[in-house]
Amino acid sequence: MSAPALVLEGVSRHFGGLKAVDEVSLTVAPGERRAVIGPNGAGKTTLFNLISGELSATAGRIELFGTDATRLPPHRRAAIGIARTFQITRLFPVLTVLENVVVACQALDRRRFAMHRPVTAYDDLEARASELIDRFGLTAQRTALARHLAYGDQRKLEVALSLAGRPRLLLLDEPMAGLSPGESRSMHALLEELDAAMAVLLIEHDMDIAFAFAGRVTVLHQGRVLIDGLRDEVSANPTVQEIYLGTA
Ligand SMILES: Nc1ncnc2c1ncn2[C@@H]1O[C@H](COP(=O)(O)OP(=O)(O)OP(=O)(O)O)[C@@H](O)[C@H]1O
Ligand SMILES: [Mg+2]
Repeated sequence: MSAPALVLEGVSRHFGGLKAVDEVSLTVAPGERRAVIGPNGAGKTTLFNLISGELSATAGRIELFGTDATRLPPHRRAAIGIARTFQITRLFPVLTVLENVVVACQALDRRRFAMHRPVTAYDDLEARASELIDRFGLTAQRTALARHLAYGDQRKLEVALSLAGRPRLLLLDEPMAGLSPGESRSMHALLEELDAAMAVLLIEHDMDIAFAFAGRVTVLHQGRVLIDGLRDEVSANPTVQEIYLGTA
């Protein structure tokens, strides 16, 4: 039996008196699709920062693919197979689409310190980058500067970059945020096409998208797990309905 992709045991992060994430426990199986929902300020992004290592936990234990990662820095967690996108787009604005993806592929390539190698030694990096660019429908923009892309394409590029290191666990922080309905549908279709062996955690405010994407849903509220279960159980929960719909 393979180890879970992610195990959180009583993970907390406090900022002064604020319990942004408070004793969260959850398990994500390899290849699982999990939505993380909750109102603004519920602690969703903080939870991702704790999983990826951008923030250290105040308490609790974080295990990635069977390895205790609680005290590992972000690059060591990336080496285990975790990647993420950010709620706010982070690209190299003055590099082209192709350069952005090649840099991302190269950053995760063991040969990156071999400065004496001829550039042609990295043809496979460019092939891998081109494959990602094509998959995300950015072929026509490959020589465009990232900052000249439409916002929807910037967000697609960001997801493409997160896949450069072939992660086994991907954290997506509101990839649909700010997209038009059409762009959002296009992004959703791309997310449905992601490698089924890779576990994906998706933070998403649109419940229809979250529930269409994920079989299991974790609801955060005031830093705590309110409910964690199959989507039908979660959507039928009166407290969830109250938080999201102001009913019940
Ligand atoms: N670095 C920080 N220092 C102090 N407080 C913080 C910090 N980061 C987050 N917080 C606080 O922690 C709480 C959770 O924030 P977080 O960004 O995780 O929420 P979220 O669920 O992602 O919200 P949103 O849906 O608006 O993105 C908020 O009250 C926020 O103000
Ligand atoms: Mg957030």
